[in-house]
Amino acid sequence: MDSKEAIHARIDELRKALAHHNYRYYALDSPQVSDAEYDNLFRELIRLEDENPEFVTADSPTQRVGVAPVDKFSPFFHEVRMSSLDNAMAEDEVREFDRRVRKGLGAPAQVEYVAEPKMDGLAVEIVYEDGRLTGAGTRGDGRQGEDVTSNVKTIRAVPRQLWGAESAGIPPKIAVRGEIYIEKKDFESLNAARSAALEPLFANPRNAAAGSLRQLDPSITGSRPLRAFFYGIGTFQGDFPFGTQWELLNQLRLWGLPVNRMSKPCAGIDAAIDFFRELVRERENLPFEIDGMVIKVNRLDWQRQLGEKSRSPHWAIAYKFDPHTAQTHVIDIDVNVGRTGILTPVAFLNPVLVGGVTVKRATLHNMDEIERKDIRKGDKVIVHRAGDVIPEITEVLDSRRTGEEQPFHMPSQCPVCGSDVVRLPEEAFHRCVNRNCPAQIKGSIVHYASRDAMNIDGLGERIVARFLEENRIRTVPDLYRLRMEDLEALSGFGQKSARNLLDAIEASKRTTLPRFLYALGISHVGTFMADLLATSFGSLEAVRSATGEELQQVAGIGEKVACAVVTYFNAPENRQIVDDLLGLGVSVPEVRAPRPAPSGFWLGKTVVFTGTLASMSRTQAAEKVAALGAKVTDSVSKKTDVVVSGTDPGSKFAKAEKLGVRIMDEEEFNSMMQSRSD
Ligand code: IVH
Repeated sequence: MDSKEAIHARIDELRKALAHHNYRYYALDSPQVSDAEYDNLFRELIRLEDENPEFVTADSPTQRVGVAPVDKFSPFFHEVRMSSLDNAMAEDEVREFDRRVRKGLGAPAQVEYVAEPKMDGLAVEIVYEDGRLTGAGTRGDGRQGEDVTSNVKTIRAVPRQLWGAESAGIPPKIAVRGEIYIEKKDFESLNAARSAALEPLFANPRNAAAGSLRQLDPSITGSRPLRAFFYGIGTFQGDFPFGTQWELLNQLRLWGLPVNRMSKPCAGIDAAIDFFRELVRERENLPFEIDGMVIKVNRLDWQRQLGEKSRSPHWAIAYKFDPHTAQTHVIDIDVNVGRTGILTPVAFLNPVLVGGVTVKRATLHNMDEIERKDIRKGDKVIVHRAGDVIPEITEVLDSRRTGEEQPFHMPSQCPVCGSDVVRLPEEAFHRCVNRNCPAQIKGSIVHYASRDAMNIDGLGERIVARFLEENRIRTVPDLYRLRMEDLEALSGFGQKSARNLLDAIEASKRTTLPRFLYALGISHVGTFMADLLATSFGSLEAVRSATGEELQQVAGIGEKVACAVVTYFNAPENRQIVDDLLGLGVSVPEVRAPRPAPSGFWLGKTVVFTGTLASMSRTQAAEKVAALGAKVTDSVSKKTDVVVSGTDPGSKFAKAEKLGVRIMDEEEFNSMMQSRSD
């Protein structure tokens, strides 16, 4: 290229082309060129500007990155307050919102809404003056946020200049509002790169977007794959060109601002609710995270008539997805071998956010459970996670099956040691027959050290695995034979952590009978049962020498537990372990006043749990009543004596009501548990 004019003209052409391709890509979602072609244009512009620095301008796309870092953000003031939204968690709350809206408008039969996916990102306001981006701020408290102008300028999805040609005139001043976010696939690769560079990972795409935008060095923001969707406005000067939210969205798009294409006008609340159901189903397949749907009154004059409360408008609501559930699919099904040799099938899931936590696995319990729910590899499923309970698959979306799904078969050999796997006729579980299976040994040591057992701080799964691999220990009593030298020989073990661990092991020698009994890992003896055994028999010796009959005299101890306890203490290797532990200095004092055995309301009762309990997991509750002699089952029938119902009970509640079965809420349940020994 020869003359300066020709070069200047080419530079101009390249800038226009790049802005046009950004618009095609981000605003219209229909790129005309490949990423490589875009990169070539971009590189050509960089080269021409390098060779002809007199043509570099501040708003050239090459200058998106290149502002110096700051020490802290300046404040950014919103001329019109940035409101938040009220949440609706269920359909009836959405219908209630619609009733309020219609009442506020003098009761029209139906109100037209616009439904928009609720992006899980970070809200920003961006100011354009005469079409030029002049400022950008985070929401902050709604009045004052942080000035992130230099950072926002590095985001390709955000135009530096509004498009005027194919639309209404550009207003002298407009503040547009939207959400900065990161697509799921970009989040995965960002984290993969951070993991390779040993940098801390982002918990979810929302945190990644927020962390990337709020960088004091804009060049870091520029290196992150941020995107934006716009859905509203603040300040506006000039002729107001729209009468509805729908027109507003279309106009924003014509100005070159990306608008979510899934947004949809809905003739009334029913249409909006239908669309919500569609989003629930489609959520997993979307390229970005959404946490619900925003429903807005379409007519802007009606919005003004309805007005705002202190923090949120009367004309819009956020209909949120149930935070405890999400839709995903089963990538694989595998088994985990636990300390008792039980093979627990586990579903590996396409990672999905459930209530802010990324869930990658769900327990499938046992073969009966898999068959009952008919869960197959490749299935689309709903996962549920409540509190600290391990996530579960609650539903298979059969209608989404493709025919490629594969049923799971329990392996006939243990995946850890290769021994046979058996299923005893009266058991729901499959077990590895090898008592010396490394998985069982590791599991039993980890269990022995766990918080409710001997509570050896710092002795978790990873360290136990290393001790075993390096032959520092082979059995539980070996823990008390560990020396400083053993620990220091392991790489990564500092002197201080070695000392702390040895101190914790030493401290565990002073324990209690219930803890010790639980720590032994006897089948069917959880914390509650260990407590019952300790208080009923008073000493380790008494538990150890009790016969099956004596054990079963205690209300709450059934044949299964009695048999497990007797079997455990009859096995020479277990007697050896207990003797070794006592010989090494573990002291298990007697329980001073053994409590009389509880009389039992629960004895012989058939109990079903439904819904979420606040004070304990369903499994813990089931263990407790089972320990008191109740039989816990999964479904309600005429034989059921009690249904214990937490919050959000399922269909079991309705069935219990229909059959006239006694229903207890959590409070009553807890008081029945307290009074068990009265
Ligand atoms: S409208 C007065 N529309 O959700 C209207 N907000 O929970 C205020 N959000 O602060 C917001 N997608 O960060 C609106 N399509 C959408 C949205 C959306 C995500 C966020 C936004 C807002 C928060 C409120």
